[in-house]
Amino acid sequence: RSDGFAEKEKTLAIIKPDGLYDNCTDKIKNAIFDSGFRIVKEMLIQLDEEAAMSFYAEHSSRSFFSSLVKYMTSGPVLIMVLEKENAVADWRALIGPTDASKAKITHPNSIRAMCGLDIQKNCVHGSDSPQSAQREISFFFKEKSSGSAVTEHDEL
Ligand code: TYD
Ligand code: MG
Repeated sequence: RSDGFAEKEKTLAIIKPDGLYDNCTDKIKNAIFDSGFRIVKEMLIQLDEEAAMSFYAEHSSRSFFSSLVKYMTSGPVLIMVLEKENAVADWRALIGPTDASKAKITHPNSIRAMCGLDIQKNCVHGSDSPQSAQREISFFFKEKSSGSAVTEHDEL
């Protein structure tokens, strides 16, 4: 469908604390728009420890977990729901590999290469599958009971 009303795929993006410094936020948002995503919702929040631990629960047994939680709670984060066809895979491709220092060599045009620093301070998050996207979107944005198709733009 090309009438603009087709249900497009959605993914969850987060601009992490280091991505909210300097002009990185603008660079990231320009990359988002240039790649044809629409920002359906956005919300600037400060994660507390409990929320960060819960969001990254799948990594709770990893050695970097406490450091990751500390980093994700070190400042505000910008939570966004992005929409386009193939949003999940396309957003992952646009952000590049997890390790931003490696991304600078292998994926120099990726967002993590552009604004990230290393394997932890990698400036953005992206859902890794449509299932993760659904779970992560409802983690931050409660479903409206009316089921309205209104795509509100939450105030910052
Ligand atoms: P992961 O899901 O493996 O990466 P991605 O964000 O690309 O899906 O890891 C989640 C986050 O955990 C990652 O963005 C940054 C952090 N992390 C570290 O701090 N150290 C590590 O060694 C890894 C693998 C991840
Ligand atoms: Mg991941």
